[in-house]
Amino acid sequence: MEGYFCQMIEYSSEISSLSPADLKDFFVEFTNKPSLVKRLQILKNSDYVIIAKEGEKLVGFINAVSDKTFSAYIPLLEVLHEYRGNGIGSELVKQMLDMLKNYYMIDICCDESLEKFYKKFNMLKLSAMVLRNYDKI
Ligand SMILES: CC(C)(COP(=O)(O)OP(=O)(O)OC[C@H]1O[C@@H](n2cnc3c(N)ncnc32)[C@H](O)[C@@H]1OP(=O)(O)O)[C@@H](O)C(=O)NCCC(=O)NCCS
Repeated sequence: MEGYFCQMIEYSSEISSLSPADLKDFFVEFTNKPSLVKRLQILKNSDYVIIAKEGEKLVGFINAVSDKTFSAYIPLLEVLHEYRGNGIGSELVKQMLDMLKNYYMIDICCDESLEKFYKKFNMLKLSAMVLRNYDKI
C-alpha cells in the first residue's frame, strides 16, 4: 500500500447518498475524463454497482451492465490510488462476480498487465475489439 493505513472498508450497493464530488479523484487513467455529474450517472444507471467506503469516503467502485438474462459486462473498476494494494479491488471483483454468478457470460476488457489480477478469479483470456468515441466522453 502506498503510504496510507486503511481503516475498516465497507462494501455496499447503496449509492443514493453519493454526490458527484465523491467521484472527483476517480477516472485517473482516463486522458479525457467524464464530468463529475456523468461519473455519478454512470453508477446510477448501471444494473449493478458495488462501492467501497472508508467511513464517508468513497475509495473504490465497480459497475456492471447486463441484459438480465444471459450476459453481463463490467466496464469500470477503480480504487483510489492511495488505497491500492490492500485487496479492495479484489474484494470488489469477488463481490461483483458473486452478484453476477447466474449469468452465462461475464466479460471485462483490460490491459495485458491486469491479466494476472483477473486470472485469480478464474477469468479466461480472450481478445476483444473495441470502439471509443472520444468526443462523447
Ligand atoms: C486494478 C485496481 C482496481 C486494483 O485495485 P487494488 O485495490 O489495488 O487491488 P488489490 O489490492 O486487490 O490487488 C492488487 C493486485 O493487482 C495488481 N495490479 C493492479 N494494477 C495493476 C496494473 N496496472 N498492472 C499490473 N498489476 C496490477 C497488483 O500488482 C496486485 O497484485 P498482487 O495481488 O499479486 O499483489 C487498481 O489498481 C486501479 O484502480 N487501477 C486503475 C484502474 C484500472 O486499471 N481498473 C481496471 C479496469 S479493467
